[in-house]
Amino acid sequence: MQKTLLKAAQAVLDKAYVKYSNFPVAAALLCDDGTIITGVNIENASYGLTNCAERTALFTAYTQGYRKDNLKEILITTSKDHLVSPCGACRQVLSELMPKEALVHMHYGNTITTVTNEELLPLAFSEEDL
Ligand code: THU
Repeated sequence: MQKTLLKAAQAVLDKAYVKYSNFPVAAALLCDDGTIITGVNIENASYGLTNCAERTALFTAYTQGYRKDNLKEILITTSKDHLVSPCGACRQVLSELMPKEALVHMHYGNTITTVTNEELLPLAFSEEDL
């Protein structure tokens, strides 16, 4: 499955809208019915409004009606030769929108590093804290 997700992510990497960073990132999200939803980073001249690839994929999945328990794995890739892991904002969003045990794969070169969603953001702030 990791390879299928990788292919899907790599297929959209060149769709990233990265005028300001020139740092394309792509994500591929696996749903429980086998659907794969992709996303890329979409930047803005007002830099803080940038949407990361992971969030693009997740928000698309929710738009299509998928919810937390439907989302199993997410893979992110870049064209860099080092590991790139989700930013802090994405970790918080992943924590809200995917299960704790969901797998987060980070790809570069010939390497895929996998952690659980919970491992990526331990002690996460959540609705239970409200
Ligand atoms: N970025 C992502 O899309 N995902 C990550 O996991 C890390 C960072 C984007 C945001 C911005 O468009 C560019 O990478 C440089 O920060």
